[in-house]
Amino acid sequence: MSRSRKLALVVIVPVLLFAAVQLVPYGRNHANPPDGALVAFDSPATKQLAERACFDCHSNRTKWPWYSNIAPISWRIQRHVDEGRGELNLTAFDPASEDMADAAGEAGETITKGEMPPADYLLAHPEARLSSAEKQALVAGLDRTFAVFVEREKQYKLEKERRSGRE
Ligand code: HEC
Repeated sequence: MSRSRKLALVVIVPVLLFAAVQLVPYGRNHANPPDGALVAFDSPATKQLAERACFDCHSNRTKWPWYSNIAPISWRIQRHVDEGRGELNLTAFDPASEDMADAAGEAGETITKGEMPPADYLLAHPEARLSSAEKQALVAGLDRTFAVFVEREKQYKLEKERRSGRE
């Protein structure tokens, strides 16, 4: 194969592949579902911080960035939003869901541990980066908001420790 043909392949094949993956329907529907039960936040300040740092993945009020229309990154964003809403939806909260009750009990803790918001999200969303004072305020606010679930989580952990101590 001549050099120019090789070069054409190296350039054209990826471009065609890129164009082809844009046709996959998954990740292209960015119509947010309507809100359900909004979490009764303990204060407007907690709600504001959560809106900044958590709502894109944990609510039905996702702001979809322009690159969420471009595959394959759109697939990853779609998965994050679907999983995030499934674990904890702050604008469609369902206390009867075991997953959501658990997540509510751990919400503050995930921030303290640096697990949430995810690091790659923060790279692309400087507005979601919280100062340490804001982090503390959000953790305390979420712990107050979800006090019932935080308490339940604590009891559950104690019970588990007690059981493993007995064995
Ligand atoms: C970029 C999307 C994104 C953002 C922003 C985000 N999360 Fe998450 N979150 C996820 C995903 C995806 C999961 C499920 C998979 C996992 O656990 O990593 C999750 C899981 C959780 C869970 C369930 C427990 C766990 O660790 O699995 C809690 C609680 C949680 N997030 C709280 C928060 C809070 C509080 C914020 C805001 C400070 C936040 N998240 C911001 C995507 C996000």
